[in-house]
Amino acid sequence: MNLEELNDIANRMVAHGQGILAADESTGTIKKRFDSIKLESTADSRRDWREMLFRTQPAMNECISGVILYDETIRQKAADGTPLAELIAASGAVPGIKVDTGAKDLAGAPGEKITEGLDGLRERLNEYHSIGARFAKWRAVIDIGRGGDDSIPSPYCIDVNMHALARYAALCQEAGIVPIVEPEVLMDGDHSIERCYEVTEYGLKALYRELYAQGVQLEGTILKPNMVIPGKKCPEQASVEEVADMTVQCLANCVPAAVPGIAFLSGGQSDLEATAHLNAMNAAYDLPWPLTFSYGRALQAAPLKAWGGKDVEAGQKAFNHRARMNGLAAKGEWTE
Ligand code: 13P
Repeated sequence: MNLEELNDIANRMVAHGQGILAADESTGTIKKRFDSIKLESTADSRRDWREMLFRTQPAMNECISGVILYDETIRQKAADGTPLAELIAASGAVPGIKVDTGAKDLAGAPGEKITEGLDGLRERLNEYHSIGARFAKWRAVIDIGRGGDDSIPSPYCIDVNMHALARYAALCQEAGIVPIVEPEVLMDGDHSIERCYEVTEYGLKALYRELYAQGVQLEGTILKPNMVIPGKKCPEQASVEEVADMTVQCLANCVPAAVPGIAFLSGGQSDLEATAHLNAMNAAYDLPWPLTFSYGRALQAAPLKAWGGKDVEAGQKAFNHRARMNGLAAKGEWTE
């Protein structure tokens, strides 16, 4: 492992005013997204959609520092024969790859999940590196019990998920790939913002303990956390400032300063909320790490609708706008 190289890649991924496009939806998930615009999901339609995004200028050059791809996409070529990973690299963004194989039911813990994908991961990482990937993503999914059920998440669920994240991260670094570690506390459900804080804090402390135990070098990692936010069905929703303050407080208590950067997931927030929350944190705080975005839905919902399967110009216009707004939020310079 060359830590300096990993650190350089990680720093590029969180360059000032730039963030990550998470375009790594599995074939099942992208089908659901395409259903919403009544478009058939085929290898070609998935390629056309993603090629449209990766060719969007100036968004790709100015606001996007990295793109997370799915296995199918990193092997696909644009209509003119250019590999999509090359298209991304040519814009100055770093190509990355989702390597987990999804969240499965956790044995002995009804309602909880464990993320799988460790078998054969060393070999897969080496292959991904050879076809251009310089960072990877693994997402652990932590649910919060409904109706005040505080048995979920269980310490068992947190421990096994953080252990798997650390095993993945160590293998990535061995292969010269920067691991994005993503312990996502879901915003489904009716829990309060305080409960989200508590679970997020518990999860992050367990994560950094495991990364340390397994020899992962923090300078060669990126954290992709949820924001501290009430459940979607919680009757008491929070203000932008509350979300920003509690998220920053939680991260400051848990994330070592050696981490090169933090790139949030959007997790079901609206486009505008995801931008406003990120902006509020960057505008109000001076932190040890850059805070930016690694959004899937909050970057792609508007362009998907505008594109509708055919209108490239409208799709690119919408993507340019969301990328620019989030780029400004990453500097704390966004205004509504
Ligand atoms: P969302 O921003 O839609 O949550 O997706 C980000 C991601 O990559 C989740 O793993």
